[in-house]
Amino acid sequence: MKFAFIIDPIAQLNPVHDSSVAMMEAAQAAGHEVWITEFHQLTVKNGQVWGFLLPVTLTPVELAGDHWVAVEDWYKMGEGSLQPLSNMDAVLMRKDPPVTIPYLYTTQILDLIPDSTLVVNAPRGLQAANEKLYALNFPSVIPETIVTQDKAVILDFVAQREAAILKPLAGKGGEGILFLEERDRNLNSLLEISTRDADTPLMLQEYLPAASQGDKRIILLDGKPIGALNRIPTGKEFRGNMAVGGRVAQTEITPRDQEICATVAPQLKADGLYFVGLDLIGDYLTEVNVTSPTGIREIDLLSQVSLGKTVIDWIAQQVS
Ligand SMILES: Nc1ncnc2c1ncn2[C@@H]1O[C@H](COP(=O)(O)OP(=O)(O)O)[C@@H](O)[C@H]1O
Ligand SMILES: [Mg+2]
Repeated sequence: MKFAFIIDPIAQLNPVHDSSVAMMEAAQAAGHEVWITEFHQLTVKNGQVWGFLLPVTLTPVELAGDHWVAVEDWYKMGEGSLQPLSNMDAVLMRKDPPVTIPYLYTTQILDLIPDSTLVVNAPRGLQAANEKLYALNFPSVIPETIVTQDKAVILDFVAQREAAILKPLAGKGGEGILFLEERDRNLNSLLEISTRDADTPLMLQEYLPAASQGDKRIILLDGKPIGALNRIPTGKEFRGNMAVGGRVAQTEITPRDQEICATVAPQLKADGLYFVGLDLIGDYLTEVNVTSPTGIREIDLLSQVSLGKTVIDWIAQQVS
């Protein structure tokens, strides 16, 4: 079968960390063709979506004790050509956030691909689901949350609790996440910076003290949990994201986690969000990552599984 991956420039990917590379390796190992392109390399002509596709061959990472190692020239690209994406059995949209207007245009272009090619995640799902706001669809499993750009409303929310967490709606990897307390002398100024003087709505959540024990990532495939890892804040940092130095640790999927997964699964399925990373703190869902969730490499290492293979085999089964 033919798999196309829409990714950030391949030279910028980290083969020992990025889930996209794990999936490309798994596709290659299963005997599929692996093609890559970038989100700004799509063209619509004659009513078809074309991509400038490059064939790629990977040297898989190897296990060295407790970490993965990659050779320096871990990928080799063949000659590129413009091809209709309908020639592919599956297209994996794996461009990293932020979700910008050009990103949304790309999803609208991908939506023109005929159903005989499976696009993961579904373009309409990517349009519908902001990674922060989507959690609001599941009020029974989220912490107290508001979305506003009104400074007075934010100040009131902060004043009513010991601490609150502020999240820009387009952030990832901990970007722009703030820990707010009423007594912080920078509070007003921080809010002015974050709301760009009341021009951008933000999310505020009650601060969950369980965050110090970790931010759990659960990978869902077609609504079912297939693996999990914990990310524990280190040093003086309150954020658990791997991108800011969170320490990864093995973890379990508890009955409460299963309940949260079951709560979100029907909506994810309805929206074509097949490959998703849920972030859970304590007993609550805090974020639904749909663009290019990460964690596969780390889960494979900690749990001796091969989630890339699980995902690729599932996609192959859907399109066969
Ligand atoms: N409600 C919360 N209470 C405490 N800490 C939180 C809360 N929400 C997020 N965090 C912290 O902020 C980090 C990033 O939050 P998240 O919502 O997952 O956004 P992103 O990962 O996109 O930056 C988490 O790893 C966690 O440490
Ligand atoms: Mg997160």
